[in-house]
Amino acid sequence: MIPQKTVTEILETAKIEEVVQDFVNLKRRGVNMIGLCPFHHEKTPSFTVSPTKNLFKCFGCGKGGDPARFIMEHENLAFPEALKYLARKYRIEIKEIELTPEAVAQQQAEESLYIVNEFARQFYQDQLFTTDVGRSVGLNYFKERGFREETIKKFGLGFAPKDGAVFTEKATKTGYKLDYLKKLGLTSRYDKDFFRNRVMFTIHNLSGKPIAFAGRIMEKDVKAPKYINSPETEIYTKSKILYGTYLAKKAIRQLDECILVEGYTDVISLHQAGIENVVASSGTSLTEGQISLIKRFTPNIKILYDGDPAGVKAALRGLDMVLEKDMNVKVVLIPDKEDPDSYLQKVGATAFQEFIDQKAQDFILFKTNLLLSEVKGDPVKKAGLVRDIVDSIARVPDPFKRSFYVKECARVMELEEEVLVTETNKAVKQILQKRQFDRQKQEGTQINIVPEDGEGSATPDVEVLPPQPGRQRTTGHEFQERDIARILVAAGGEMYDEKEGISVAEYILSNIEEVLEDFDNAMYQRIARECLQLLTNNEKISPQYFISHKEQEISSLAVDLLYSPYEYSPGWEERDLYLSSQKMPDENFTKDSVSSLMNFKLRKIIRLCEKNQQRLKEVQATDDGTQLMRLLKVQARLNEIRNDLAKQLGTVVLK
Ligand code: UTP
Ligand code: MN
Repeated sequence: MIPQKTVTEILETAKIEEVVQDFVNLKRRGVNMIGLCPFHHEKTPSFTVSPTKNLFKCFGCGKGGDPARFIMEHENLAFPEALKYLARKYRIEIKEIELTPEAVAQQQAEESLYIVNEFARQFYQDQLFTTDVGRSVGLNYFKERGFREETIKKFGLGFAPKDGAVFTEKATKTGYKLDYLKKLGLTSRYDKDFFRNRVMFTIHNLSGKPIAFAGRIMEKDVKAPKYINSPETEIYTKSKILYGTYLAKKAIRQLDECILVEGYTDVISLHQAGIENVVASSGTSLTEGQISLIKRFTPNIKILYDGDPAGVKAALRGLDMVLEKDMNVKVVLIPDKEDPDSYLQKVGATAFQEFIDQKAQDFILFKTNLLLSEVKGDPVKKAGLVRDIVDSIARVPDPFKRSFYVKECARVMELEEEVLVTETNKAVKQILQKRQFDRQKQEGTQINIVPEDGEGSATPDVEVLPPQPGRQRTTGHEFQERDIARILVAAGGEMYDEKEGISVAEYILSNIEEVLEDFDNAMYQRIARECLQLLTNNEKISPQYFISHKEQEISSLAVDLLYSPYEYSPGWEERDLYLSSQKMPDENFTKDSVSSLMNFKLRKIIRLCEKNQQRLKEVQATDDGTQLMRLLKVQARLNEIRNDLAKQLGTVVLK
């Protein structure tokens, strides 16, 4: 563990422009610097670096953060490793804190597992290249499949000999404990080699360490399983690994796309042919962990399926999960009962590349077409199909994308667009309610699925955009909430009232604590809550805290907030005027927070006024005198507060 003091020192020393410039060419542009984004493909620079804020931000792909975040993203390192990188760059000495004995033991055990696996990898490789039988059987097998020697070495392929315990004996003689060999599944319960007479595939983790093996039988048509695989261990969790990621990650990032295939040999074949952005799910359906893994590198995924349409249809079910993660999914069917490997060997690399480029179809449209070809005019079946498609579309988080799909699918299915819009909206609401239900169940709070007045804050922005253009997406209060979040992040820890010792965050939060529930935007609310928590724990609120927040969502929001102090709502011209006449908005946080708060409150009050007026109308229709009086009183009081706030705002804002 790196001591907190050193962490702070590293983060304070590292200069964003120096860190970035090791990888990206930057040009001055005013106070900022710009260059071509290293995280996505672009021709005109939208990647900016702000030396004063010590942050980077790409306005193309949205990535942003501090120097540590840059290194994490660019070098694909975890936070502590990124810190070590920066420490080396700036010659800061890290004296690691002593770990607990258990943690040390754990680390050593894991380290030993890697070392043993590395020994095994070397053993299988030596068998393949330096023994007679290895060469004539194993190497020959790979060569017949068209794998070149450099490829074989790059992927850590090998050969496991036939006889009972050649590997186990050599390993124990070299000094490796039998316990470890068994744990890793290299040695069987009866002290024999687990992998025998098979060609071997090494499975690597993201940093290229061997974590598991697969052994393929060489004969055709025997009863034994084609592949046998290592068991799961501390260093190998199947559901979080995709075969080939270590060798593919660079190309995936550069091309901003990940190709997904089923088999080990598909990965190797494509890679050898120059298509390097490819990984395999190892024959199983995709897991959430695997999707998150891909998403670290790109949101674009192209899945190559082999097999018949029926099999593919079954596989499609699992894909809704990928849509939920806001990834763009394309699908290609490999024809003629081939798999990517065999098809590539058959038609050659160029034709193969052309084929997958041409045939790639958007997943939802692909699914629509596939299912449509089955219903053939049967109206009952078609209704079922609509539900199926709508369910996929509803999972897409981006409302613009949803409305695109609605349009396209309506066209393909020859349906009225309105029908699909209505159905999709229903499905979206259901999904949101289910999510809310799950969340509340998890948190153990009171369950209140359907908001009383139908306008609850739990379902913001749920509609698919209807066909007419120019409709507003935000609910109207988000600008004020964003502003409050921005001030909390940028200046929450600063002093609001030096004499009284009140910080900006304390001032803001004490004023909005009772309306914290009423935030329309869940993320801004999270920021406010988090600040409250920090205050309660007497911890420091600082931009750095949010920038290096362990939750990526929060840290990138923080970067956004710090980058864009001038985004105000369209109806806020006066305020814009006020701010742009000031020198540095960040130095004005005191005035800023007062007016933000008032604006925030004003908005909430106005909303209450509107609701109350609505009720008034309803009650007037019913002739209920007492109720009417009550509501009128409420209205008068609300108006009072509203006018009061507006007046104050007038003096504060327009001075
Ligand atoms: P395939 O049967 O398509 O094999 O299984 P493949 O990868 O094309 O291999 P070759 O070309 O016949 O040599 C796809 C994947 O499913 C897993 C493996 O990860 C394989 O790559 N699998 C398959 C197993 O784990 N065990 C098996 O018995 C079969
Ligand atoms: Mn194959």
